Amino acid sequence: MKSFPRSITCLLALTLVSSGQTQTQPTLKAAFSRDFPIGVAVNERQFTGRDTHGVAIITNQFNSISPENALKWESVHPRPGTNGYDFSAADAYVDFGEKHHMLIVGHTLAWHSQTPRWVFEDENGRPLRGTNAADRALLLERLHDHILTVVGRYKGRIKIWDVVNEALSDGDTFNDRVILRQWSPWVRVLGDEFISKAFEWAHEADPDAILRYNDYSVENEAKRKRLIVLIKKLQEKHVPVMAIGLQTHANLTWPSPALEDEALTDIAKLGLPMHITELDVNASAAGQRTQSADVAENARASRDGAAASAEAQAQLATQYTNLFKVFLKHRDKIKLVTFWGVTDADSWRRDGRPLLFDLEGNPKPALADVLKIAQASGSP
Ligand code: G3I
Repeated sequence: MKSFPRSITCLLALTLVSSGQTQTQPTLKAAFSRDFPIGVAVNERQFTGRDTHGVAIITNQFNSISPENALKWESVHPRPGTNGYDFSAADAYVDFGEKHHMLIVGHTLAWHSQTPRWVFEDENGRPLRGTNAADRALLLERLHDHILTVVGRYKGRIKIWDVVNEALSDGDTFNDRVILRQWSPWVRVLGDEFISKAFEWAHEADPDAILRYNDYSVENEAKRKRLIVLIKKLQEKHVPVMAIGLQTHANLTWPSPALEDEALTDIAKLGLPMHITELDVNASAAGQRTQSADVAENARASRDGAAASAEAQAQLATQYTNLFKVFLKHRDKIKLVTFWGVTDADSWRRDGRPLLFDLEGNPKPALADVLKIAQASGSP
């Protein structure tokens, strides 16, 4: 697509009709058109067109989409066996992306969460064991069938896949003997073998897809070290891992600009493109905890309304502008920035009021601040 100088691009403001108001706003995708695509996680009400207001924001502001839940194992493969698939939601998601000329992401193939119990049990409901060769073979066969079927179905249409999600262990203390999340059933039964197999099979199913490893809080030094150990080991084995996804579920002060800059600089040494995959900023009082815990833990959003305060939302605007300044500094290595939800009402942590569009879907002042960062950065 021909790109225009930023100043012209941003002046090509589109009219955003939002909840009956007419506002003229530069769009995120236009403002960052010379830097990276701007994506958003979409839910079923949006990709089926029922949320007309959300669709208007998505098609105006973004040029990439990720499926918040529609392509997770529990959604596409709820029951065992080759006839246990249900592609109704995933097909609608991909059709929506193609209808609106979006860069379409697939999320996610192998994850310990939102994966049905049957995947990790034998036909009698006994949990599979890593000490049992037949159990290991059965789980590998299931993973192979899932990946070849799902990635194969959308070959050439889904351009980026989160092949493995959140396989690293948490915690502030690095121990090179505990790299992976030990309680994950994938790790318990298969060790790290499931990771290399998942990437190899995804590449077999669609050789042109960009295959991504995705995780959260990798700005945390100990977790970042685990990430680097894992990815280097995969690279040594010539496993086709092609990009690193940093989820970036932030809070008002974490990661600091300096920490984000340090993390991106460090991870870039792996020689792989980086994607910001699930960006949001938790503004709730309960959400300001350390990031060494599991994402579900550090995502706590209290219903105390603190997040909605003018003070909290002003801090949110500052955090977003700080992060985007760092993203632009690393624009040569960052190839996609995706927000994890359209409006605060859609967010998995809605009480943290974490996004750039409020509960009613109106743009927050933080949106204008982020757009100013794009304009201020000037053309490279
Ligand atoms: O589908 C059921 C529905 O049938 C039921 O009526 C309803 C009420 O119980 O629950 C629905 O399932 C919910 C699912 O989202 C689909 O909406 C689950 O309860 C709910 O826990 C699940 O939350 C998702 C969460 O992942 C699960 O861990 C969030 O929407 C989604 O935003 C969040 O996204 C994850 C990324 O995939 C990976 N990175 C972390 C991020 C935040 O946890």
